[in-house]
Amino acid sequence: MIDKLISEIDFALKLHSCPPKGNRTDPSEKVNSSDDSLPEEEKEKIIRYMRVNHTGEICAQALYRGQLLFNQDQTIHKQLNQAASEEIDHLVWCQKRIDQLGGKTSHLNPFFYLASLGMGMIASKIDSQYNLGFLEETEKQVSSHLETHINKIPQKDKKTHAILKQMKYDEEKHQETAKKLGARKLPQVFKKFMKFSSKIMTRTTYWI
Ligand SMILES: [Fe+2]
Ligand SMILES: [Fe+2]
Repeated sequence: MIDKLISEIDFALKLHSCPPKGNRTDPSEKVNSSDDSLPEEEKEKIIRYMRVNHTGEICAQALYRGQLLFNQDQTIHKQLNQAASEEIDHLVWCQKRIDQLGGKTSHLNPFFYLASLGMGMIASKIDSQYNLGFLEETEKQVSSHLETHINKIPQKDKKTHAILKQMKYDEEKHQETAKKLGARKLPQVFKKFMKFSSKIMTRTTYWI
């Protein structure tokens, strides 16, 4: 257990100090469009939305790492690892887009990382089916949140749209995978708590 904890601390420090490398091509690279036509106030708004999404991906890493800590089921382990690797891609794409637009990621990332790691650990400790239920609900809430950002971001920002659409596609796939593996429905009160926590995250990282 001590080994696992040390490895988690090492992973968290690396995640916050040097940007990870993704496995897939950034979807925005396939888009032939320039940011020059974006007015400054629109750029600022997009940076804020992408900062929220970047922190969401930091939380996703922490959640998956936490969920893997106590999980004993090899099939679930494999799927969680696969999804976590796709979440790394999302993190890299969000970070890159923020950099391109001249923005900064959130100062609150370490705090949300720790909170999400704790939630993932608790979910995996309770029961593997609840663990999957927690994952399914998380991915569902993230997908619907991404949909609202897709609708709010100006259509002419084709690069950000390409990233968010691929992310939404992946999150829906993660949700479906959790369901197929036998995710148990979470109590309503727990779903409400998750929504409340995610509201705190989205409203604070939009500004800080
Ligand atoms: Fe993601
Ligand atoms: Fe996901």
